[in-house]
Amino acid sequence: MRIDAVTLFPDYFEPLRLSLIGKAMEQDLLRFETTFLRDFAWDKHHRVDDTPVGGGAGMVMKPEPWAQALDHVRRRHSAAEPASGESRPTRPVLILPTPAGEVFTQRHAADLAAADHLIFACGRYEGIDHRVFDWAEDDFDVRPLSIGDYVLNGGEVAAIAMIEAITRLIPGVVGNPDSLVEESHASGLLEYPVYTKPATWRGREVPATLLSGDHARIAQWRQDQSLQRTRRVRPDLYARYTQSRHGGPDAADESGSTGHA
Ligand code: ADE
Repeated sequence: MRIDAVTLFPDYFEPLRLSLIGKAMEQDLLRFETTFLRDFAWDKHHRVDDTPVGGGAGMVMKPEPWAQALDHVRRRHSAAEPASGESRPTRPVLILPTPAGEVFTQRHAADLAAADHLIFACGRYEGIDHRVFDWAEDDFDVRPLSIGDYVLNGGEVAAIAMIEAITRLIPGVVGNPDSLVEESHASGLLEYPVYTKPATWRGREVPATLLSGDHARIAQWRQDQSLQRTRRVRPDLYARYTQSRHGGPDAADESGSTGHA
């Protein structure tokens, strides 16, 4: 997979070179590059923003530097050698991190992990002139996405969160793929609580079931804990889960267990 980020702050993305994502880059499972938007603002002062048409507070990002930068990134990728086993590119996915987008979930992450080329357009100020996104529909699969109901200063931090969630699902990036199956959101539920040794720590015990060696009982305990935790912490997810499995919230109330969550 190839990921590009177009931004006024390329340094924000440096931490991606650490940890498992950095290793994936070293192994060429992932190619990541930033593009500095201001390089595509060709007026004397390299301005990328202007006042909003119709009035109002703040500044809006000008369309032309964005169009030039996005064309540059798209052409650079079409010219690049496909990685081994990769067929020729489909339309790149243009992700616009914005609080006005659809909320990004694990389902988006799984869907985007199968893409050939993602481009993150990281806006600042009050946002990017909307005509850029109409224009981009011709050559990109445009996806406005939010990481939650709060407002950040720009798209960079949201892009980093999405990049981490997406790239850890690329085969080979996370060492043990089983850990992806069991974790929160993979099944539509929150993950059950986890413990390690010692069995007693500062007077607190690991739940006895987990020490029983009975794999079926342990699996049932974990499922019950996941259901209880999800119902308590995220009733919205719980309702969706039970709806999809049994046709109603009461049907999933199958936990008669001890409540260690
Ligand atoms: N840019 C500013 N706030 C954001 C958010 N909540 N999600 C994605 N991008 C953003």
